[in-house]
Amino acid sequence: MSDPAGALPAERWFGDRFGGPAGQVWRAPGRANLIGEHTDYNQGWVLPFALDLGVTVAAARRGDGVLALRSRQAPRAPADVPLATLAPGAVTGWAAYPAGVAWALRGAGHPLVGGASLAIDSDLPQGAGLSSSAALECASGLALAGLYGLDLPRPELATLAQHAENDFVGVPSGIMDQAASLLSRVGHALLLDCRSGATTDIPLDPAAAGLALLIIDTGARHALGDGRYAQRRRECDRAAALLGVASLREVTSLDALSQLTDPVLRRRARHVITENARVEQTVALLTRGDLAGVGPVLLASHASLASDFEVSWPEADVAVDAAMAAGALGARMMGGGFGGSALALVPAGQTAVSDAITAEFARRGWPPPAFLPAVPSAGAFRLRPTDGDGTGRG
Ligand code: GLA
Repeated sequence: MSDPAGALPAERWFGDRFGGPAGQVWRAPGRANLIGEHTDYNQGWVLPFALDLGVTVAAARRGDGVLALRSRQAPRAPADVPLATLAPGAVTGWAAYPAGVAWALRGAGHPLVGGASLAIDSDLPQGAGLSSSAALECASGLALAGLYGLDLPRPELATLAQHAENDFVGVPSGIMDQAASLLSRVGHALLLDCRSGATTDIPLDPAAAGLALLIIDTGARHALGDGRYAQRRRECDRAAALLGVASLREVTSLDALSQLTDPVLRRRARHVITENARVEQTVALLTRGDLAGVGPVLLASHASLASDFEVSWPEADVAVDAAMAAGALGARMMGGGFGGSALALVPAGQTAVSDAITAEFARRGWPPPAFLPAVPSAGAFRLRPTDGDGTGRG
């Protein structure tokens, strides 16, 4: 096996497992979400951004119609799946994500006839609510599309990846994570209108404002498939139906809530309506260069997610309180909820907030949280072959 100097770990892993060079190498990032939580499947607005952590896939075509999957993070769980046998339920565990994308591509008229070998490497923590699954789907989808020369616009690939996650893996997520991984631009957050699919890049440069965005991995693990996420989706659909609208996105005034007699549905709808308004408010603040002004909006989002949507968890509540007491400008839980990470807006170059959260966790006898800087980074890109502008967007 050759091991050229400068080879990426994913390329070396490819050579190790498959004994030849990879034809294409793609990287797709995980995401943070500045604001707009549980709004995507209500056809509302989200404002995520790509992280500089992600999943790398080194890939080559085969001739035997098999999808061969190897992950550096799961070396004892390889998967070899004949493409013709791909069907929901046929593949389980981590391999279901890339297999699901191949299944979705085939369903969209891209048969990938000869199959492919994929060697996967990730530096994203799993279960931390940073969308490692979406990054795996997106990097795999780009690699397969690249190998087979498919002309697949990224918004379409985002939809196919979500279809794979919903209908092959069986996790009822929205479109935010795949869109963020594929469509984000460095130094920007991605404003996505989840009804129309329209995107706008919103400048987000915390360092220029003397600030930093800090991810707090609370250590509590979540699973979108555990039923509570799906229950929230059902509650929102029910509230929309009772209000006579196609989705809660259509409701902009809180006055409408008086029509909902069920207090739970009223709270769920109130979160979605106010969260959509907070996305709009955040975009306005960022557009006039007032990142510090976003702090209180993040805190209001947390309160709404905790009290109205009831998806926060004890470690997130404690992290938010400790962050605010130690000088954060704002903080909130992030992602689907019930575990994963929180996000705090903090003054740059200090550790007062992370120190305070660590101390508070220790005082409660909880395992220490992990901290990651959240730097608005580029969406997915091709690493090999390198091209002119290095973006892989050709
Ligand atoms: C998870 C889902 C997203 C979105 C968030 C909540 O991350 O994958 O689609 O619904 O939860 O905002």
